[in-house]
Amino acid sequence: MFITLEGPEGAGKTTQLRGLAEFLRGRGFHVVTTREPGGTAIGDQIRHVLHDTDNAAMSPTAEVLLYAASRAQLVAEVIRPALAAGHVVLCDRYADSTMAYQGYGRGLDRGNLAALTAIATGGLRPDLTLLLDLDVERGLARRRDMGEEMNRLDLETVEFHRRVREGYLALAAAEPARWLRIDADRPGDEVQSDLRRAVLARLETINAE
Ligand code: TMP
Repeated sequence: MFITLEGPEGAGKTTQLRGLAEFLRGRGFHVVTTREPGGTAIGDQIRHVLHDTDNAAMSPTAEVLLYAASRAQLVAEVIRPALAAGHVVLCDRYADSTMAYQGYGRGLDRGNLAALTAIATGGLRPDLTLLLDLDVERGLARRRDMGEEMNRLDLETVEFHRRVREGYLALAAAEPARWLRIDADRPGDEVQSDLRRAVLARLETINAE
């Protein structure tokens, strides 16, 4: 089963993913965790180029192609082999980030982005996508408070990040069978128990099929 976590900045995805992986391992599942951009040696090099604040001149097209390149490598090297071995894959961001950030945020043509994603992933889509949703200003403030390293996308305006969030909500509404929205503006343990419940329910449904 392929599960992705998505959401605007500061939603706590990375910490929540760690907790979820621990929980599933405790339940006997073999879990592979990974992230985008990155997750492979090649992808991590691409991540560095994408996040470097010295690369402020990067064109939106160059940017989206780099995200797609990192994704293509991750799918081929990590995700497909893990799924083929029957493992649960938990991925911190995936193709929906491209739709939200480059599509809704930057305004790139969403039809073209879908075609690019199909090339990068060979059509591999998540079984379940968990949207950790929270107000944009709250998320950005959380990131600052936690002293997280600022990347090139953190230099974007609040309006950009608002469009990203609206994009996520639109994507989730368009495909309710795959997406689950979780209110991330709550204590971490409450968010974690919602995630655990949702994932366990989905795994049980799949096992029963
Ligand atoms: P993060 O690992 O801290 O979430 O940082 C990844 C950043 O890259 C985040 O700002 C979202 C952005 N991003 C895109 O713009 N498009 C994409 O396709 C992906 C995977 C991430």
